[in-house]
Amino acid sequence: MNESDRCRTLAVDIGGSGIKVMVLDLVGNPVSDRQRLKTPQPAKPAVVIDTILTLAKQQEFERVSVGFPGVVQNGLIKTAVNLDEDWIHYDLATSLTQLLSKPVKVANDADIQGFGAISGKGVELVLTLGTGFGSALFVEGKLVPNLEMGHHPFRKKETYEEQLGRSALEKEGQKKWNARLQKAIVNLDRLFSYDVLYLGGGETKNINFDLPPNAKIIPNITGLLGGIKLWDS
Ligand code: BGC
Repeated sequence: MNESDRCRTLAVDIGGSGIKVMVLDLVGNPVSDRQRLKTPQPAKPAVVIDTILTLAKQQEFERVSVGFPGVVQNGLIKTAVNLDEDWIHYDLATSLTQLLSKPVKVANDADIQGFGAISGKGVELVLTLGTGFGSALFVEGKLVPNLEMGHHPFRKKETYEEQLGRSALEKEGQKKWNARLQKAIVNLDRLFSYDVLYLGGGETKNINFDLPPNAKIIPNITGLLGGIKLWDS
């Protein structure tokens, strides 16, 4: 086993519709393909964990980083709006550490996606557009953890997630969704005066307007690549 094989990280991204994994080497480069299974419904802890174990069995790794779609503090799940309320207070890090017999770190999915995208300069905001509306804020590369913009009021007595999550896109259609996203970008620029805005998540494929010069779309794989940063320091 060479030096780099000793520190392979299994990056896991738990989403509302899919659970993805990929193995990263010591410096965070992918050393496996990305594998994906559907998120079982209802997405209760036992079945989601079984899906992670199935995906993990096919890979070789020494440690694990998990992106979870909710507030995570010290490996403990605090919210899980798009999964199932049985997740609340669930100690995902401890449970997976025992089941996989490997060290496991868990963080918010948008925070991890951000780690995979940012340059580390100035104020950088990351938004993820998928089942939910994820957000992550970095100042000079330092994360402000668990920024939950998605559940803040946006317009018409609805939150960002209610207006811009996947169900809103499906219900209202692309045209309205794009108009709302443009408004959200303006709003959030006023709020954070960010230097760069990164837009990630599967639904970015629906964006059909010209983004401002300080905004860019990041690839889906970023949600896994950022997992390596949980092991820095
Ligand atoms: C959750 C966030 C998460 C986002 C994207 C929201 O509903 O509250 O924690 O980052 O969905 O998955």
